[in-house]
Amino acid sequence: MKKKIIAANFKMNKTDEDIKKYFAVFLDLINGLKNKTSYDGLDAELIFAPPFTSLLETHKIIEPYLDFIKLSSQNVYSEKSGAYTGEISIDMIKACGCVYTIIGHSERRNIFKESDELTGKKVEAAYTGGGVTPILCVGENLDIRKQNGQERFVENQLSAALNSIKGRNTSSLIVAYEPVWAIGTGMSIKADDGEAMHGFIYDYLKTGFSIGELRVIYGGSVTEANIEELIGKPHIDGVLVGGASLDPQSFYNIFKLAVK
Ligand code: 13P
Repeated sequence: MKKKIIAANFKMNKTDEDIKKYFAVFLDLINGLKNKTSYDGLDAELIFAPPFTSLLETHKIIEPYLDFIKLSSQNVYSEKSGAYTGEISIDMIKACGCVYTIIGHSERRNIFKESDELTGKKVEAAYTGGGVTPILCVGENLDIRKQNGQERFVENQLSAALNSIKGRNTSSLIVAYEPVWAIGTGMSIKADDGEAMHGFIYDYLKTGFSIGELRVIYGGSVTEANIEELIGKPHIDGVLVGGASLDPQSFYNIFKLAVK
């Protein structure tokens, strides 16, 4: 059975000191839930994506829990090394302990104007570098949803981002379907609409791509109030949580409701 993914994207929040305080609370809650040796039985994987500046500190803290808590970066650059001031490579995030990287988050696309082309290059770099699985974000804005154009839009985003892996065997991929209108707005998708989009993404990727383990997770105003309905859907393999992951108790509650 595929493990459910409960992922936290801290975005541009938390210093190392904040991270230490966060995990003091979060790991206490986790330790109270199960004996550490039986985490495998939970059929869930927790992923944390702190800012670059706290990757090493977070890795140090989660090291005893690496069988079910994994580290992700929030972004990565496509080139291996060189004169790219301010950028971070695949090798650099790997050296910090990352086994995942978020690629193509809508905040990268919309605020920092990152193109489909660059997003595709980053995906290619992750597979070429090896050892880091992309969490590829896709999702339409409200205008597109209102015109019922979400499937076409997401298909185009997937096609552009994954062009480089067409015809190539890849061991794993996580797609995060994050409709832009649902991010940080408190307006989450209806579970049935989410299921329809996730089914669509599955269907699209099952033809023409050769992805060993595909998981499609949902992001956009996930909270304790909607997690059970979302995670109950057959094609929603997990969630990517922004705002509600910043408080350890609230993220733990989401996790617990998702795995119960
Ligand atoms: P919110 O959970 O704050 O809506 O953010 C979702 C998100 O962008 C996760 O990557």
